[in-house]
Parts: sequence; structure tokens; C-alpha cells
Amino acid sequence: MTKNIQTDVLVIGSGIGGLLTALLISKNKKIIIVTKSSLSQTATRLAQGGIAAVQNFEQDSFREHEADTIKAGHSINKPRIVKEVVEMGPEIIALLESLHIHFDESLHLEGGHSHHRVVHIKDMTGKIIEEKLIQAVRKSKNIHIYEHMLAINLLYGNNICHGATFFKNNTIVGIQASETVLATGGIGQVYLHTTNPGVATGDGIAMASRAGVEIEGMEFIQFHPTALEENKTPQLLLSEALRGAGARILNSKGEHFMKKYDERGDLSSRDIVTKAIFEELKKGQVYLQFEVYKKSIHKDFPTISAAIKQKKNLDLAKDMIPITPVAHYLCGGIKTDGHGKTSMKHLYAVGECASTGLHGANRLASNSLLEAAAFAVKTAEHVLKNYTKNKTIKAQAKFTPATQTYKLKSLRKKIQTIMWEKVGILRTTEGLKTAVQELTSIRNLLPPPHLINREISDTKNILDVSLIIAKAATARKKSIGCHWRV
Ligand code: SIN
Repeated sequence: MTKNIQTDVLVIGSGIGGLLTALLISKNKKIIIVTKSSLSQTATRLAQGGIAAVQNFEQDSFREHEADTIKAGHSINKPRIVKEVVEMGPEIIALLESLHIHFDESLHLEGGHSHHRVVHIKDMTGKIIEEKLIQAVRKSKNIHIYEHMLAINLLYGNNICHGATFFKNNTIVGIQASETVLATGGIGQVYLHTTNPGVATGDGIAMASRAGVEIEGMEFIQFHPTALEENKTPQLLLSEALRGAGARILNSKGEHFMKKYDERGDLSSRDIVTKAIFEELKKGQVYLQFEVYKKSIHKDFPTISAAIKQKKNLDLAKDMIPITPVAHYLCGGIKTDGHGKTSMKHLYAVGECASTGLHGANRLASNSLLEAAAFAVKTAEHVLKNYTKNKTIKAQAKFTPATQTYKLKSLRKKIQTIMWEKVGILRTTEGLKTAVQELTSIRNLLPPPHLINREISDTKNILDVSLIIAKAATARKKSIGCHWRV
């Protein structure tokens, strides 16, 4: 059965990018927000660090935040976008405060930043932002929310987007919209080890690429250097802010080795710390430990303290915490211009699924929530200024709900293992070639393309995105930022 719905603006995804865009447009337009799980199941909710935004103009400046962003990105960032986004920092903080989000007075320091400038709420910044935005969108009369509804494909013709096709309760649903915003988040589930939630299967990128929308920078997968070593995914993130507050990285001999790799030591940018830990792990376990015991650590980092106690029975303030790098963030994605517009008319992309040019080859810590919020503002402004009623097209009922279950768990694990081993932190020419071959041959093992359910869709998207990453990594021959080749 196929059902059709119409709206002015369709937003797919419910992290900070999607919810803020919807909220800002909702004053004048009817919005539908669709999310494949419940609204709060997003990477935003897990963001511990905060929002990089210059606050203390006596000691810090926009120019220094820009320089840090470009240094971390190895100078392939788009300078105009860097300047615009960095200068929006204070405005973004004020906007979030107007939504009753109250930040701590202190500013955190994270890797690659020359000053304390990470605005935060203890170690639960994303969680509070997500909760407050959910309260706000639930209150809006113009926003209609569909949870547990799976996006399958874009509805488009002649390079014009008309909405998307979804799957819910064994029914195919077509949502026609004059403007569509993809805010579907990241791709961490492509890898065996990640900090990303289970929903991060790259759906928006897979759908956009199947529709011929331009995608870029997919080789730039950022591996966070300090996740808790544990046999479980998603793995617990140990925020860089811990290092900003005095935690040090040490190897199994108790040596603080980071200065060997970069003069900035433990607070070097993320790509450098990840590579250093990757090397040291060959010799034994690597740890994070506060050099000086401070009672306030538990109060300042309550989420991390509690999780470490519960998972490992360790004390964050004094014990050596075993760490490992894991997949964390996609620096590339769906190519957008300075207003969030993609290469397809009436289609926008915001947040981690978008490639705006801010991050270059490696994102500076805590620039992601800043980027998502800044482009939510820019996209909303552009949509409201340029809104034109788009003609509707007939939803092609190309999909049939799958009636039998396909055991795709092991196939998915196979894809994640190939990606981890051959398209992971360190990439070789031979490994990448084998990865592309193996991933291509897995396509034949998927159920027929017209059959749909959540498991099929997630697996198909993971495979599509894996191939895009493996091919992009193959094409970029030289190491730069978080793309490390030998
Ligand atoms: C962190 O707190 O280390 C992660 C924040 C980010 O990904 O920028």
C-alpha cells in the first residue's frame, strides 16, 4: 500500500542540524520532521565536548579560531566558509540560550585549539541541546513529527527534489515537499569500532548519491583518539576536554609519548593524536590518566566518570583508563554551498551529512555542533527567502515491504570489518583495492533491490557508503589530515 502526504518543507533527521532548521523555518511554513528511530536517537545527544565559539575577546579572536580550524584541516578548508562560521559563533550561542539552553561559565580547551573556547554544559552538552530542541519542536504547531519512519529514497526528476519515499508499519509513504533538508547525520556504523549511535548508517548520503547528487571528501573519516577500550559498540567517548583539563596519554611503560609526535603534545589535533596512539598500540595498551588528582573531576565530567565506573570499575580522577581510536566523524559528505544548497534543486543538507568546506582534511574539535547550528541558520534563511511552491510528482511505488527476514547481521559485520581493516586509520594501496573488490561482490548477496525493511535499508546504505569511502580513499593518493596512506 502507498500513502501520500504533502508539506511545505521536509526535514529528514533529528539532531541539532535538523531540529534547529525545522524550528527556524516553522514560523512561516508547515514542516514535517521524519526520523527513523525516536527523535532523541542522534549523535548530537552523545556529543560531550561542546561548541567552539570565541567568547573571551581579550585573550582570543575570530582570526585565531579560523587559523586553528585551517591548521587542523591542513589548509584544504574553504576560507570564506571558515570565516563566516567562526564569526557566527557568538550568535549561535545566543540563539541556543534563547531556547533555554544554559551553558557553563567556564570554557573548555580541546586538541588543536590555541585558547579555551569550547562552550559546554559539563560533559553533556549535546544531550541538553537535544532535549531542549525536542521540547521546542514538539511545542510548534507548524511542525509535524514522524518517528520510526525510514527514509528509503529521494523523490526527484530533472534534478529537482520533490521530497522522499519512506517506510513505516509495512507501508510505503511518499512525502511531497517544496523543499527537502537532509540532516541524517554520520556514517560511523560503516566501521566495526565507532562512537556513533546505531542509527548512523549514512542514509542521507546513500540516498543523495543514488540520486546523482554531488558528494565530496568521503575519504576524510575522523577517528577519535580516545575512546574507551571495550568490547562493545558504540564505544564510550572520552572527551578531548579531559586532556584540556589535565589528563595525559601514556603508553604501557608509563611514558607520555605525544611530544615525540608533535610539539603540541597531548593537545595536538585529532588526526595526529590518533596516528600516534595507533603506533604506540603496536607495543602495548595505551592509557589516559590525570597527572594531578583533582576532586572536581567527577563534578566536571559526571557522564564520563559514571560510565567508566560502571563499565570498568575505574576512577576517572586517578586510574589509568585504557583507550583506543575509533571512527567518530565524517568530514566530507553531500556537497553544499554557503546556504546549505546541494547540487540538486530544492534539496539542502545540514550537519554531519553535509560537506560545507569548514573542516578540510580533519575537523577541529567541537567545530561540528557549531557548523550544524550555523548551517541550520543559513539554510533556514535561504529557504524562507527563496521558497517557491514546487509542483508535485507521482511517487513511484518501486518498493515492496519484505515479508521474510534476511539474516543480514553477519553481512553487515563483514562490511564493517573490511572497512575497519582496509579503509581504516591506515590505508594501503593493496588494502584499498581489495576492499573495493570485496565490497562490490557483497552487493550480489543483498536481497532484491525492490524489497524493503529496516535491516535491508541499513545494510544497503552501509554498503553504498562504504564503497564511496573506499573509492574516494583510493583516488586520493597522498596522505593528508585524517586520510593516512602508505
Ligand atoms: C570530544 O569531546 O572529544 C568530541 C567532541 C567533538 O567531536 O568535537
